Formats: sequence, structure tokens, C-alpha cells
Amino acid sequence: MKNDLLLKAARGEDINRYPVWLMRQAGRILPEYRAVRNSLNGFKALVKNPELCCEVTIQPVDILEVDAAIIFSDILVVPEAMGLNYEMIEKKGPWFEKTIRQENDMKLLDSNIDVKDRLHYVFDAIKQTKNELKDRVPLIGFAGAPWTIFCYMVDGQGSKTFSESRKILYQNPILAHDLLTRITNTTIQYLKEQINSGADLIQVFDSWAGILPKNQYQEFCMPYLKQITNELKNTVPLTVFSKGAISSMNEICNLNCNTVGLDWTMNISEIREIVGETKTIQGNLDPCVLYSSSRNIVKETQKLLDSLSSKRHIINLGHGVYPDTDPDNVKTFINTIKNHEIN
Ligand code: CP3
Repeated sequence: MKNDLLLKAARGEDINRYPVWLMRQAGRILPEYRAVRNSLNGFKALVKNPELCCEVTIQPVDILEVDAAIIFSDILVVPEAMGLNYEMIEKKGPWFEKTIRQENDMKLLDSNIDVKDRLHYVFDAIKQTKNELKDRVPLIGFAGAPWTIFCYMVDGQGSKTFSESRKILYQNPILAHDLLTRITNTTIQYLKEQINSGADLIQVFDSWAGILPKNQYQEFCMPYLKQITNELKNTVPLTVFSKGAISSMNEICNLNCNTVGLDWTMNISEIREIVGETKTIQGNLDPCVLYSSSRNIVKETQKLLDSLSSKRHIINLGHGVYPDTDPDNVKTFINTIKNHEIN
């Protein structure tokens, strides 16, 4: 691998500068992505087209010169493979016609699915991208954490509160565990096959971790994250990003993963105190910094770099890059990191 800084940092090996990539770097901000996207009839047509997924996955490597590629796909391909179809509505986001609200709805899910077959387009995209990347940088595979996928399968669309999902945790915890178990089993098979197809590192996104009180995060999220991380240990480096899970960071830091991702409200030094040198930390510049002047972007990025007390760090934003961010500002952020040598 020509540039394996990301993998070295994840494994805690020596590096001479910090690796950098952005969550949601593929798509969203690049006009080059919009051009590919507009040539097709909708988001899902793109997700199911391995050749074009490969193209938009490599765009940020060429244009932004990030230290990793992340396969272009979506976390929602998993519920779809389980039998719950979604639509991606322009300017609105995901929408599920059918949702899981009571026991009877579990019949909507297909049993004994062949993950390799149902999600072959993702595995094909990974294989093709690995080929075309020619080992310039590592390729990241990903999935949503069971709780985050549960939120979409139950609420059926984006929400500030996901109150239908949280309601079930009180009204029918057995059903909740049932569905979370089904999601977890599919996710483990899915991630193993991504690794077989060539993914060099895996990130699990728990985007809605922050809406649960600690006791419920412990009951409905941690056991499933534990199961996934334990199943994948001794394969490729693994990152867990639990957005907003401030009160469960101690437990998250004890998972069988190499890297913990921090959102922008979390404090790197506090998490470093917990993990010492046993884990890599990823993050966590506030994505809104990229709306400020280039002078300020350099200043804030420098401040982040100067605050780091360990080489076990991967620079990223504290969540996905916002869609209306100027790509030039992203480049300023990336260049500041690349110019910063560590010894
Ligand atoms: O660079 C990358 O990370 C590309 C691959 C990727 C996408 N979605 C493509 C996408 C990844 C890793 C995701 C993850 C994802 N998807 C998450 C977890 C990360 C996070 O942001 O918290 C979540 C919660 C989703 C669900 C989802 N997909 C939503 C809520 C939306 C609509 C709003 C938006 O743009 O995020 C999507 C659509 C989506 N997924 C787009 C892209 C590029 C935009 C669709 C378009 O092109 O119109």
C-alpha cells in the first residue's frame, strides 16, 4: 500500500503525520458527484451500480487528496436486504413505506436471507474499487450500528426524536431485542463479506446513539456492538463511531475495536485519559468550522493538532461533512493536517 497511514494509526504503529479523511466525503459536497448522480434515475440506481460507485468513491481521493476512500453506499441497504424497502426522496431523505411497530410486522422481514446475494452490488463495488485504487490508499467499508438501523426500520424516516423507536423500548422490549438481534446477525455477515471483498478497515456508524439515556444504551446498543466487534476481531481494524453517546464512552472504549470516533462535542483529552495508548481516537473538528474563513480553518485545525498528546489519532470531522460546504475549505483543512509533521 502506497499510503497506509490510516491503517498504521489504527493499529497504533509509528507515523510521521496524522492521516485524515472525512465522514461522508463521497457525494454530498463535490460537483463531480452531482454530475454522476444526475446521469442516473435516483440515489438507489447509483448505489446499485458498482462501476459508478467505484467512480464516486475515488473522487475524493483524487480531488481532496484524503488518506482513505470510503465505499460509496448507504447504511440503509441492510434493512432493504432484510426485506424492508426504502426510497430516497429528493431533499427529504430516506422513507420506508412499511415499518416495524408490532410483533406482526416482523413478518415483513424475509428469513434466512443470503446476504452475499442480496448485497452483491456492494461487494462488487468494493472489489472494483480495490482494483482501481491500485493500493494508493486504504478502502473503508461500513455499516450502521443495530440501534441506528432499528431507528429507520421503526420510525421509517429521519426524525429529531425517533419517538416511535424509543416507544417500543418501553412498550415491547422483547420485540426490540428480537429486531436488534436480526439486524445484528445480518450486519455481521454483511461486514465479513465486505472484508472478504477487500475492505481494509471497517467503521460502524451509530448516528442516533445520542438520543438514548445511559441505561437504554447499555441494554439496547452495547450488547449488539459487543457482538459485532467480537465477531470481527482479528480481521481488519475496526472503528466505532457512536455520535452523542457521551454517557457510555467508558463502555465504548472497552469494545474490541481499534479506534473510537468522537463527535465534535466530545473532548479528546478526556477520552485519551480513559483509553491511554490502547486505542486510536478519530475526530473531531466541528463540521461548521469549514464554513469559516480559510484563516480560521487553519487556526482551528492547528489548535486540534497541537492539542493531541498521542500519535494514535486519525483526523476527521466530528460528523459527516455538511452538503453545502465549499470543497476549497475542505482542502484547506486537509492541507493543514498534511503539513503538520509529528516526531
Ligand atoms: O462518503 C461517504 O461516507 C459515502 C457513503 C455514505 C452515504 N451514507 C452516502 C449517501 C455513508 C457512509 C452513509 C452513511 C449514512 N447514511 C448514515 C450514517 C452516517 C451519518 O451521517 O450519521 C446515515 C444516518 C444514513 C442515512 C441517510 N442516507 C440519510 C439520512 C440520507 C439523506 C440525507 C443525507 O444526505 O445524508 C441519506 C442519503 C445519502 N447517503 C446521500 C449520500 C451521498 C445523499 C443522497 C443524494 O445523493 O441525493
